Amino acid sequence: MAENDKKIVFSGVQPSGNLTIGNYLGAIKNFSRFSEDYKTFYCVVDLHAITVRQVPAELRKRTYETLALYMACGLDPKENTLFVQSHVPQHAELGWILDCYTMFGELSRMTQFKDKSAKNAQNINAGLFTYPALMAADILLYQTDIVPVGIDQKQHLELARDVAARFNLIYSDTFKIPEGYIPTDTMKIMSLQEPTAKMSKSDPNENAVVRILDSKDDIMRKFKRAVTDSETCVRYSEDKPGVSNLMTIYRAFTGKTFDEIEREFDGKGYGDFKLAVGEACADGLTSVRDEFARLVQDKAHLEAVMKAGAEDAYGYARRTMSKVRRKIGFVN
Ligand code: TYM
Repeated sequence: MAENDKKIVFSGVQPSGNLTIGNYLGAIKNFSRFSEDYKTFYCVVDLHAITVRQVPAELRKRTYETLALYMACGLDPKENTLFVQSHVPQHAELGWILDCYTMFGELSRMTQFKDKSAKNAQNINAGLFTYPALMAADILLYQTDIVPVGIDQKQHLELARDVAARFNLIYSDTFKIPEGYIPTDTMKIMSLQEPTAKMSKSDPNENAVVRILDSKDDIMRKFKRAVTDSETCVRYSEDKPGVSNLMTIYRAFTGKTFDEIEREFDGKGYGDFKLAVGEACADGLTSVRDEFARLVQDKAHLEAVMKAGAEDAYGYARRTMSKVRRKIGFVN
């Protein structure tokens, strides 16, 4: 298919911590399925990361690492546009413009803002509040058709659609209205220690979070300590959130169905099951870890990739921005 006829996919990940198997199974692992038939933009969203205070050297390091991880997870920079958000200034520019078309009331209803401001009570800055308008800008700049994300981003995505529709209504068609791609089987991987809460890369309890780059020993230890329940049978059920989460992870790494998993562990205790989940997860991530270790050492290559990605993204972003500027009434 000619490049121009392809539908557009956009997604982003914050370089704000060591990425988890939630980020992997809910988002990044799915990115490569679009590479062939779509025009794909995968962005390291550093502008979003500074809504929470970052150590500068760490942020820089994680930006490289997130790019390397994209590639280690199978995203070939020749087939996907991989870039860093702050390298394409139109994100911030459109972000500001969309701030003016996003309502205070809408932003106040964002559950992630409520959660994050509760966790960062000493730094509830305006960027944390207007974050969803910047995310809308990321998506709308590229006339995106599809946005692969975990379920926690659904509310932000709906806001992006509402803002796009509002802008289009005022100024005539300007933005494509994007659709989410939320994988039903892995849209929300839960904490291993508190299985009713999302696994989050900023969780201070390391035992709750399995990182993509954790060693096999760490992965095994974390799964062994995972919170389950007082029964012993491996069964998927809403009232067994710990075991059900482990089954979801096991299914994702092995391709087995819940029925097959229940049969496999029939009569066996949680101990055996947790070992099997740990093994499947660690083995499933081995090639990612190995590739990452290789890629992250070649900083010059990563810089070349991010430069080429930004140049490509810039061309698309500029086209949308010139349309937006004209429609709003800015002098060219
Ligand atoms: P971020 O960096 O928090 O997470 C990156 C992606 O990982 C998904 N995810 C999960 N999926 C399943 N289970 C989990 N426990 C889990 N934790 C995280 C997220 O849903 C996300 O897809 N605002 C976004 C980044 C962003 C973006 C965008 C995404 C900025 N602009 C434009 C898409 C399009 C965020 O903070 O993701």
